[in-house]
Amino acid sequence: MIFEHKSVLLKETIEGLDIKPDGIYVDGTLGGAGHSGEILKKLSKGGRLIGIDQDEAAIMTARDRIGQDERVSIVRDNYEHVPGILHGMQIDKVDGILLDLGVSSYQLDTDDRGFSYKSDAPLDMRMDQRQRITAREIVNGYEERELFRIIRDYGEEKFAQNIAKHIVLERAKKPIETTYELNEIIKTSIPARMRQDGHPSKRTYQAIRIECNRELEVLKNSIEGMIDLLNGGGRLAIITFHSLEDRIVKTAYRTAEDPCICPPNFPQCVCGRVSKGRVVNKKPITASAKELECNSRSKSAKLRIFEKA
Ligand SMILES: C[S@@+](CC[C@H](N)C(=O)[O-])C[C@H]1O[C@@H](n2cnc3c(N)ncnc32)[C@H](O)[C@@H]1O
Repeated sequence: MIFEHKSVLLKETIEGLDIKPDGIYVDGTLGGAGHSGEILKKLSKGGRLIGIDQDEAAIMTARDRIGQDERVSIVRDNYEHVPGILHGMQIDKVDGILLDLGVSSYQLDTDDRGFSYKSDAPLDMRMDQRQRITAREIVNGYEERELFRIIRDYGEEKFAQNIAKHIVLERAKKPIETTYELNEIIKTSIPARMRQDGHPSKRTYQAIRIECNRELEVLKNSIEGMIDLLNGGGRLAIITFHSLEDRIVKTAYRTAEDPCICPPNFPQCVCGRVSKGRVVNKKPITASAKELECNSRSKSAKLRIFEKA
């Protein structure tokens, strides 16, 4: 199994994590172990790395690449379970956590995973193949108003209502099974003169993928707990790929830095909420011109770093 993936913002992320050679690090989205491989280069013999991914193919590739290293533990799980995973390893605190969100190019390029509108495949889109719900279930089973909400909110698609309507009309004739069938439905739902900004299916696929993998919910539920797991000076680095994810990270970091909910006219804080640390970079770090040239995936990437007090 070859999991080829050009790691995004590699240098910036490693610098941002400010790695302590004997520290404990968690990579919550191991993928092809590109970032993890670089973290390992910075760790001494006393350091430790816990790599997590929910995708079996990613786990197999990572095992091949870094699994022999005795500083490494590889776990197939969802990163939302990091607190429990560390607890099970009797680890209280760590020095850094990395999330490089979304799908990998390996997942996108593996036809039968159904992530890409560019190849004909069964509607699947699960990152964790053990999961029951697939894109097929969403497309054929969700009520029209739910489909509309998902495509509008997660895809930021202007024609969400029409797409949802056409999906429901088509599936009444026969179940929608493949990506190409779905592409056709989306195409007919968007007026030709309005089809701009990439492939017409792009936004709808993003929406269904986010829903299928609960991507935003998992991210939202994880950030505060991850900050709580850091040692003083420890860092959380998160790379996002669209505005919905980035907004969640930005808001969570801001709240962790300044959690006070007292009205602004109060002379002093009475809510008792204490800052957990500081946002290291007020503006997100984006890819350099050089990286953009050789890795198109880095175009929308934004890196935000939080440091625990
Ligand atoms: C962009 S890739 C990571 C690439 C990796 N940083 C590298 O340099 O090779 C994202 C990976 O995160 C995994 N992933 C996404 N969300 C996850 C989650 N909630 N829990 C565990 N793994 C997740 C995906 O399966 C995918 O393998």
